Amino acid sequence: MGDGDGGVGRRTFLAAMSGGGAVAGAGAAGAASAVGRDGPARRGGLLGLLGHEDEIRALIARMTVTEKLGQLQQLAWTGATGPGGSQTAAAEEAARKGELGSVLNIIGARNSNALQRIAVEESRLGIPLLFGLDVIHGFWTTFPIPLAQAASFDPEVARVDGEVSAKEARSHGTHWTFAPMMDVTHEPRWGRIAESCGEDPYLTAVFAAAKTRGYQGDDLSAPDRVAACAKHFVAYGGAEGGRDYNTVDVSESRLRNLYLPPFKAALDAGCATVMASFNTLSGIPAHANGHTLTEILKEDWEFEGLVVSDWNGVGELLPHGFAADGAEAGRIALNAGVDMEMVSTHLADHGAELLAAGRIKEDRLDDAVARVLRVKYALGLFAQPYVDESAVVEVPTAAARKAAREAAARSTVLLKNEGGVLPIAAGTAVAVVGPFADSRDMQGTWAGPGGEKFPPVSVLAGIRDAAGRGAKVTYGVGATERADLIVVVVGEGAKLSGEAASRSDLGLPGGQEGLIAAVAATGKPFVVVLLNGRPLTIGNWLESAPAVLEAWHPGIEGGNAIADVLYGKVNPGGKLPASFPRDVGQLPVHYNHENTGRPYDPASPGNTFITGYLDVDRTPQFPFGYGLSYTTFEIGTPRASVARIAAADLRRGETFEVEVPVRNTGDREGDEVVQLYLHDPVATLVQPVRRLRGFERVTLGVGERKTVRFTLGAADIGFWTNAVDGRFVVEPGKIELFAGASSAARERCGVVVE
Ligand code: GLC
Repeated sequence: MGDGDGGVGRRTFLAAMSGGGAVAGAGAAGAASAVGRDGPARRGGLLGLLGHEDEIRALIARMTVTEKLGQLQQLAWTGATGPGGSQTAAAEEAARKGELGSVLNIIGARNSNALQRIAVEESRLGIPLLFGLDVIHGFWTTFPIPLAQAASFDPEVARVDGEVSAKEARSHGTHWTFAPMMDVTHEPRWGRIAESCGEDPYLTAVFAAAKTRGYQGDDLSAPDRVAACAKHFVAYGGAEGGRDYNTVDVSESRLRNLYLPPFKAALDAGCATVMASFNTLSGIPAHANGHTLTEILKEDWEFEGLVVSDWNGVGELLPHGFAADGAEAGRIALNAGVDMEMVSTHLADHGAELLAAGRIKEDRLDDAVARVLRVKYALGLFAQPYVDESAVVEVPTAAARKAAREAAARSTVLLKNEGGVLPIAAGTAVAVVGPFADSRDMQGTWAGPGGEKFPPVSVLAGIRDAAGRGAKVTYGVGATERADLIVVVVGEGAKLSGEAASRSDLGLPGGQEGLIAAVAATGKPFVVVLLNGRPLTIGNWLESAPAVLEAWHPGIEGGNAIADVLYGKVNPGGKLPASFPRDVGQLPVHYNHENTGRPYDPASPGNTFITGYLDVDRTPQFPFGYGLSYTTFEIGTPRASVARIAAADLRRGETFEVEVPVRNTGDREGDEVVQLYLHDPVATLVQPVRRLRGFERVTLGVGERKTVRFTLGAADIGFWTNAVDGRFVVEPGKIELFAGASSAARERCGVVVE
């Protein structure tokens, strides 16, 4: 199978992966879905994308070069989500001439039908348009931001968001969402961490697959499904300094072990489209990178869908210093693997001359057109280009709101709770203070059209509702005198995270720390509720706060969800998807780091020649995977079903089980997330000290026990080397397995790979 070094060729590996991809705990509720495994959909092409090849070939044969280039053009209808403005008039004219493939940012059944009618009934070939929109965590019903959803460690949360969002969006004429975003990042300064699933590729991969399934279902032509988009391809989260759009210099092994796995999982889940990223990859812009866009994505992974540029991403090859002019930018991007150009028009403007000069090939042009038409056929747009204006989802339904409320509650992370301050006992006199106490700024970045139209329930409103009649809930200045407990609601406004919103300081902005100090000075018990889009540095006030609840930007039902948790209707069970640093100067600080040659050694505490800083502890404030509950749990020693296993057997798809016992040792029902980490202590490529390889969120009653089972195979144990053509190796040697309630897990067992 493999050659001498235990490696397998990239295609062989994919076959191996299809057998034994890492599958998280196979428990009932909330079991994570597979990662890195070729699902059945892949074999027949992505979600049946290959079902109309004859029609596609026949249609392409009838198209002029201008019409072909038109299919590769996407223009913005309204609402610029990047530099420049809307292109409404140009879009209408191009649609009429049959020289437009897609439009983004058009909202509403009537608007989309009107534009679609022009394309279908007035152009020569009547090819329907593809309507795309950023439906990142909700269309009408705003769910918690993706970083919050990841904190639930329950992929069902993401799948349900995708399903509800798709139903609402498709009814308004949206065919395609530019989500899920699956950029792994170690940088909380980067504003787009809010849209991500944090610092771990496995967690991100599980959520990427789940969200893709939520958006797409099993049939893209259904009136309640949309095409998903795996973005941003690739390694955008590695931006130096956490500064958006900045340089990424990445080794092949880090590209393949850290950044690519979520994209492979999304494509294995049938994701129909991919969006290229703004960054360079070791000097080559992602929009010009044939290695990632073609060799890996289209050749190794056999991706049959379409690659869309990001906003003006093709045009930005000029400021990157990679293309001398627009014609070059278009040529380079198409030849690298971009199939559709968002907003800039270099391919439409110069494609004919490039083709005539032989600088782009007809085969490649036809391949790009075929990919666009494939997605349109799979969406059923040729059969039914219009949306039923009588079936529009007008408002967030009660069921959608309930789902958003449950998602928000499951996404909260209890960081601290001393003296039993939480949950709040009925009848407690509560004062709610802070700039976000009665704020509507809880929808987070990239809230859909519902973000404004359907404002969220504030924390104050949620508490008033939860506290019940007669309870004393006061708000604002002077509210604290008569209160038994103070709820301090602080955080970041939505504009402080998301795209082009990187921060150099991760503290609570605008004097909020002073407010916490003033509340602490009252001597009354208080709880801090954080509404934020990224990990923050909270060490300045953490000691003074008896309780801290991380609630992120929780969306439309945020206030009710937070109150559900504060009053104990929901026992918090979320975990951090990204480490909280002690200080911004400590960055990057993440759990999946290398050990270095001079790690801290507890056996030699006096040794100062170790990696770290003189002025800050080397550990994070809170590690990846950390979160408390109103009850307590005990996670026991993991047990592997084998003591030894042959590398060759693993490569053939053999797997083994790891069992982890967990027990509720407290006085109320609650959720625990059992996490399984792996470390390969000696390898031909230095390995992270921990790699998450499985997790399962379980609900246990008082005293209840459960054994969580994980299945591990080649994809979990092996790693990609620095070979540019892709070499995945499973090497002999000891493997250490750790089980616990965070990445600081200590309970361990070992398996020897022979
Ligand atoms: C933005 C974002 C991308 C988004 C696109 C369309 O620049 O980078 O995530 O989908 O433009 O709005």
